[in-house]
Amino acid sequence: MRIIKACNDGWIFHEEFSERHRHEVVRGRSVRLPHNAVDLPLNYFAESQYQKQFCYQMVLHCDSEMLDREVHLLFDGAMADTQLFVNGSEILGHRDGYTPFWARLSPYLATGSNLVTVKIDGRENPDIPPFGGQIDYLTYAGIYRDVWLQLTDQSWISDVQIVALNPLATQKSIHVYCSLEGARLAGARLRAEIRDRDAAIVASTEITVDGFDAECEFSGLHNIDLWDIDAPNLYRLHLSLETGGRGDHKDVSFGVRGAEFTPDGFILNGRKLKIRGLNRHQSYPYVGYAMGRRSQERDAEILKHELCCNLVRSSHYPPSPWFLDHCDRIGLLVFEEIPGWQHIGGENWKEESLRNVRRMILRDRNHPSVILWGVRINESSDDHEFYTRTNRLAHQLDPTRQTAGVRCIENSELLEDVYTMNDFVLGSEDMPGANHARIALRKPIEVTGGKPPYMVTEFNGHMFPTKIFDNEERQAEHVLRFLQVLNQAYGDPNVSGCIGWCLADYNTHQEFGSGDRICHHGVLDMFRVPKFAAAVYASQGDPARQPVLMPVTRWARGERSLGGVLPLIILTNCDEVELRVGQASGERFKPDRALFPHLPYAPVIIRNGNFGNWGEKWESMSLTGYVDDSAVVEIHRASDPIASEIRLSADDRELIAGEKDEIRLVVRVCDQFGSALPYLTDPLCIDITGAASLVGPAELAFRGGSAAFWIESTGTVGEITVGVETPRFMPVTLKLGAVNSLSAARFREVCAHAIPKNRPRP
Ligand code: GAL
Repeated sequence: MRIIKACNDGWIFHEEFSERHRHEVVRGRSVRLPHNAVDLPLNYFAESQYQKQFCYQMVLHCDSEMLDREVHLLFDGAMADTQLFVNGSEILGHRDGYTPFWARLSPYLATGSNLVTVKIDGRENPDIPPFGGQIDYLTYAGIYRDVWLQLTDQSWISDVQIVALNPLATQKSIHVYCSLEGARLAGARLRAEIRDRDAAIVASTEITVDGFDAECEFSGLHNIDLWDIDAPNLYRLHLSLETGGRGDHKDVSFGVRGAEFTPDGFILNGRKLKIRGLNRHQSYPYVGYAMGRRSQERDAEILKHELCCNLVRSSHYPPSPWFLDHCDRIGLLVFEEIPGWQHIGGENWKEESLRNVRRMILRDRNHPSVILWGVRINESSDDHEFYTRTNRLAHQLDPTRQTAGVRCIENSELLEDVYTMNDFVLGSEDMPGANHARIALRKPIEVTGGKPPYMVTEFNGHMFPTKIFDNEERQAEHVLRFLQVLNQAYGDPNVSGCIGWCLADYNTHQEFGSGDRICHHGVLDMFRVPKFAAAVYASQGDPARQPVLMPVTRWARGERSLGGVLPLIILTNCDEVELRVGQASGERFKPDRALFPHLPYAPVIIRNGNFGNWGEKWESMSLTGYVDDSAVVEIHRASDPIASEIRLSADDRELIAGEKDEIRLVVRVCDQFGSALPYLTDPLCIDITGAASLVGPAELAFRGGSAAFWIESTGTVGEITVGVETPRFMPVTLKLGAVNSLSAARFREVCAHAIPKNRPRP
């Protein structure tokens, strides 16, 4: 039977590669995967630091029983150009940083110790997508995703495709296509079972195998619940292969749903759904791409539950399998695309890109969350021959999903099923020579030349970079731009939806960003701390789940040019908002439906109000949000904010000791009403003791109202103490733990806020 286990420990890392590494174990640094070859500072660094060769070594001990089996190593992802050697023989090369690869070790193994050497070249090789031009993100070198060791019988199931051809029919049919490997397949039996979430068998079938491809069908299924964003029903296909007393098994998760872009919009399970999404880069401060399962899942959770998005675009490459698995589980749609950014390379490059199409689709075609394949290089020019091939291949490998190609050129050639456009028109009226008024989005007909379906895949971004510590006027304008585009997309039945640029700030090359190697384009900063614009998305969610009330202000008279806080945008999903300033009686305001007629939840905008003149007393304010005439949320802003307490919170309480795992912590200095102080720049020192270590530097400064960091597991079980020292407060500590494995309930418990006792320093 099949054994698959993580192979992330026991690797030796070298900041170089030579022939010697290929043939013998060389003393080096012991590391755990996922691993980042070179950790970077937060900003102002030279990215050339990781653009060189590295090497990982591992010794695999084999006994005769193991040699009797098929032994594979599965790499979920390594950046960017990998060569793999076993006992000195080169057995594989993989020239992509985002798709997985399987290394079949069996023919090269001997009893005893076997040396596995992985050479990684982190340079931007112009033969490998996305390289060859400039790219607006970094491609951090290293084996930055998990590695798995798989042992199977010599006959085994290598690939499975599950297809529901008529998903909305009452009696459903599910086809299963399997690829099998091995010499003993003739006459083998393959049993397939569909199991529900309680592992109960919903349907089963059995066939005799007569070659490397096997196919079976379930028909007349009347008890399959559809997968949907609000009810992400998943099933498991359990396959078992029997070959003369031996066998293999494989479990694949899947869901049944109908998803189609039409000229009238996007249709999920027969009903129209306006897409409201964000683009996501998979990078983090310091460690680049090398974050484990929990952080991947957490980004999906933020998108779905905190920002109330229904879709994420995995710009500009296939994301971590952990991320996609979680999108399936929580009901977050995904637009997944091949690696690339504006540039199309030569013939080798194109062949590699076609292999990326294949690898992406083979890896991910059973995920119900994935609704669209991006098979055009992001923002590239037309290339009839190349894109004919990418589209043909995608349709061959997956007849159930549409293709798209993200472009920035109007009326370019459409070989895909969906015309997707990065529409950065908003803000272009400010560019020299522009002679037009403010436009939120171009009209679909102007962009496509009349080739629906249509979706906007990026907006905002570099048109209005906004740092978490930027001033209030800039934050308000940032917010306004998101509101305007979303409103326009909601109002146009020919726009399937829009996907903002982007979820979180990201490190980038010197050609982009603010000179600090950061594109401050996120609605969150790099630490996933929200800017005001995050509340634009959050406020589009159902108030019954989470009422939102976010005034876009620091509430100070002298922050904006000319003074005052008007016009004041209040991002909310409440029916009405009551404002009280000082002792004056409250005044109620309704959402601004005149300005934002199409948004699910329009913001309140207060344009007039007498809060006192320059030179007069400045008063505190409070806001109450009402839904169905009941007060559901209340917030206060102090007129005289004073650093009153320090809050240290952790996203979870327990690390998993035995794997690469990390927890984010956020420190805030708050005023007497609990609001974080945006312009406080005090330093802080972090001290971690016990079973965890700190990711990044131990000395930080508050910026934009917070300081955040991650701690990671060290492999040891035990208590963790996180201590934070600041100049104005007595030190605060938080106790967490590293455990063997998390109970399911514990693992789901997010944002375990611990507010330790804190006192100002004497
Ligand atoms: C787009 C590009 C994105 C990002 C964005 C910034 O042109 O597709 O990757 O660079 O601009 O606004």
